[in-house]
Amino acid sequence: MAKILVLPGDGIGTEVTEVSVKILELLAEEKGIEIETENALFGGSSIDEHGVPVTKDVIEKAKNSDAVLLGAVGGTKWENLKHEIKPESGLLELRKQLDTYANLRPAVVYPALVDASTLKKEIVENVDIMVVRELTGGIYFGTPRGIDNLDDGEQKGVNTLHYKTSEIERVAKMAFEIAGKRNKKVTSIDKSNVLESMVLWRDTVTRVWKENYQDIELEHLYVDNAAMQLIRRPRSFDVMLAGNMFGDIISDEAAQLTGSLGMLPSASIGDKGAIYEPVHGSAPDIAGKDIANPIASVLSTAMMLKYSFNLDGISLEIENSIKTVLDKGFRTADIYEEGKTKVGCREMGELIINELKKNN
Ligand code: IPM
Ligand code: MN
Repeated sequence: MAKILVLPGDGIGTEVTEVSVKILELLAEEKGIEIETENALFGGSSIDEHGVPVTKDVIEKAKNSDAVLLGAVGGTKWENLKHEIKPESGLLELRKQLDTYANLRPAVVYPALVDASTLKKEIVENVDIMVVRELTGGIYFGTPRGIDNLDDGEQKGVNTLHYKTSEIERVAKMAFEIAGKRNKKVTSIDKSNVLESMVLWRDTVTRVWKENYQDIELEHLYVDNAAMQLIRRPRSFDVMLAGNMFGDIISDEAAQLTGSLGMLPSASIGDKGAIYEPVHGSAPDIAGKDIANPIASVLSTAMMLKYSFNLDGISLEIENSIKTVLDKGFRTADIYEEGKTKVGCREMGELIINELKKNN
């Protein structure tokens, strides 16, 4: 029995997650997969009800489930709250508590969408990148942090970037393992020309490679150069490994290669639990209008089936159903081009489900 905690969150998070849940229900009904889902409040919706973005109870439930399916958190309503109780802090707390140290963000350019990118077709065609972002350390969690009041009346904002060898080792291993099943190349991203923490990053990644993974090609790039090369020669990348903040930035950039953030799923994995969520946010501007793209959420569900439940076949079936729907010309607003058929969030979900049913 697969126990899944569903946290739709805020904004379009609830709409796209609804589509994914329908797909899970279909798998339970028609493909005999034993799935048990439970819903809970998270992010802004939890703040409204409980005053905090995530309750201890929800953290416990997450720890006791095999996987968490998350929508998105945040919105204008909660923007000006104190840092500790912002929706985003709930997400960081959940990641930390579940120790999901490796965040996998695949950026794949689908042939049907090659013209949806803002980059030239010749550059983005056949791009298939997996960003592996360290997710529970680095500057996001380093202490000291905060805003200090100084004697001279000025204020000082402080954050700290530190990484321990063990934190770098485990995520580096994950990146090499994943590369071994793909195109056997890892590009490690750092800023070792300026930051000591990043000197340790580079040295540790190199050592892990020397010890066990010399069959994988290893490239090191400074983050500024990596950001440039990613739009210059995106096809030359296979796995891109980065710390928390650089990975956050690089993965948004990689997303844009594919045309829309609405297409990008993610898996956050560790030894204690797993979280699957679209890379996009809660998009308050389009929330409640049934125009969001549910594909990132559905692809996150496909990642869940693969990484948490070893159901690679069904995971692939979901991906193929999405490809078929796109090949047939159906598009949500974010990936719409002239001559195609524009559909809403729910309808896109129905179309994907119909394709999946055909595979029975
Ligand atoms: C992401 C988001 C989050 C992050 C925010 C919402 C805390 O941008 O998942 O990439 O910075 O990790
Ligand atoms: Mn981000």
